Amino acid sequence: MNIAMIGSGYVGLVAAACLAEIGHNVICVDNDARKIEALSAGSEVIHEEFLPELLARHRGRRLKFTTSLHHAVRPSEIVFIAVGTPPCESGEADVSFIENVCRDIAAEINGHGPKTLVVKSTVPAGTSDWIRSVLVRNGVPASNFELASNPEFLREGSAVTDFLYPDRIVIGSSSATGTELLRRAYLPLTSGSYHGCVSRVPQPDDSCSPAKLIVTKPATAEMIKHASNAFLAMKVSFINAVANVCEAVGADVEELVQGMGSDRRIGTRFLKAGIGYGGSCFPKDVSALRAVAEDRGCDFQLLDEVMRINENQRKAFLHRVRDALGNLKGKRLAVLGLAFKGGTDDVRESPAIALVQSLLHEGCTIQAYDPAAMERAREEFAPNGKITFASSAYETARNADALLVLTDWEEFLTLDFARIRSLLRQPILFDGRNLYNPDRMQDLGYFYFSVGRREIAPLQAKAAEASSEDAA
Ligand code: UDX
Repeated sequence: MNIAMIGSGYVGLVAAACLAEIGHNVICVDNDARKIEALSAGSEVIHEEFLPELLARHRGRRLKFTTSLHHAVRPSEIVFIAVGTPPCESGEADVSFIENVCRDIAAEINGHGPKTLVVKSTVPAGTSDWIRSVLVRNGVPASNFELASNPEFLREGSAVTDFLYPDRIVIGSSSATGTELLRRAYLPLTSGSYHGCVSRVPQPDDSCSPAKLIVTKPATAEMIKHASNAFLAMKVSFINAVANVCEAVGADVEELVQGMGSDRRIGTRFLKAGIGYGGSCFPKDVSALRAVAEDRGCDFQLLDEVMRINENQRKAFLHRVRDALGNLKGKRLAVLGLAFKGGTDDVRESPAIALVQSLLHEGCTIQAYDPAAMERAREEFAPNGKITFASSAYETARNADALLVLTDWEEFLTLDFARIRSLLRQPILFDGRNLYNPDRMQDLGYFYFSVGRREIAPLQAKAAEASSEDAA
């Protein structure tokens, strides 16, 4: 099939590369000429596993890049819209990029239809109806286009495998033609035929295969996306609130999750306690759903709590660091991780960045390292010399008063913590992602602070404390 993908951001670019991978001819459009130039030249514009391989395999063949909407839309049967829907001040999703794109598409499809327009951007329920009216207002007869909603559930860091091996594909369409076209487009993933390809991207062990197809009305498809993200964010806030209670009563949140998650109705996923959720989706989508509910007079204060707990989780971690170090002014801190989660170079709404900003504000000097996000993180800070970026995790630790782990990068799991201890001024480790085993950190001589688990002091320190109590 010939497909146009409007918007080459995270979702658009990954979807375009994956649609090319399953056999379609895709033209990817963006009005950012530098990005299109970089993509055409083969430069890496986002850090995502398997994306470089897909781009190398299909670029210039089944996958092309252009700044011209005209060149992309004219030959395409399906036109995906994957432009951003950032949050407004009020929390509502700003759909003005979608509106602008629809006006441009209207000019292209007049007299060249019929076309099927598919909204991949995350939008509030009801947006499909509004898009229809925008197109009609811009002179496109309703008989000249089909409209469908096809939300995307990929996660950053595992975007390519999430797209190619999804749990479900949701099609929201009010016409049989639109549904049929999308059904055909995704057939390699729903029939299992892609799974049989020799050179396919490896299938993750925990994926469903083949993908389940869910066909529904556009408004339901739009709600599925918002409700899914809000629910996952709620799981994260729930476990963070539980973690705080665990700390207060001397329970262990990691063991609790195993116990709770063994109930198949609950499961263990998205119950990792830490410094809160971030990224370009959860914060935006929770507030957008909250705004939709408010607008329609529906009670959904639960979402306010989800956001409040998330905000407080970061603050609680900062308090813990302040309490343990006594005073933050003038402290030299090593920070591992700046991305909003491991596996990505994205720092949007990153709790790690927010924490580092608070620490800088309190007078700390920061030495930071992230395997992929340092370039992007640099832009978040004023160049005042209070933050420096190290070339390795070990460099970060040199002469620091404490080490803070703020992102769950896999490479942080295998660091040599004996070596890090020898580089630190004091063996103090704040683990904002519960990456390490407390007993192991105790054996290595650390004062170890994590989330929802007991605080650990090195055995010698404990012995010294006990003997001074005895003496008293
Ligand atoms: C999310 C959705 O998962 C995805 O389906 C949607 O398409 C886009 O939004 P993403 O933002 O890439 O994906 O990341 P995700 O893995 O969902 O994590 C979001 C945030 O929650 C991260 O900051 C992560 O660190 C945090 N998180 C996640 C936790 O703190 N604990 C968990 O157990 C899971």
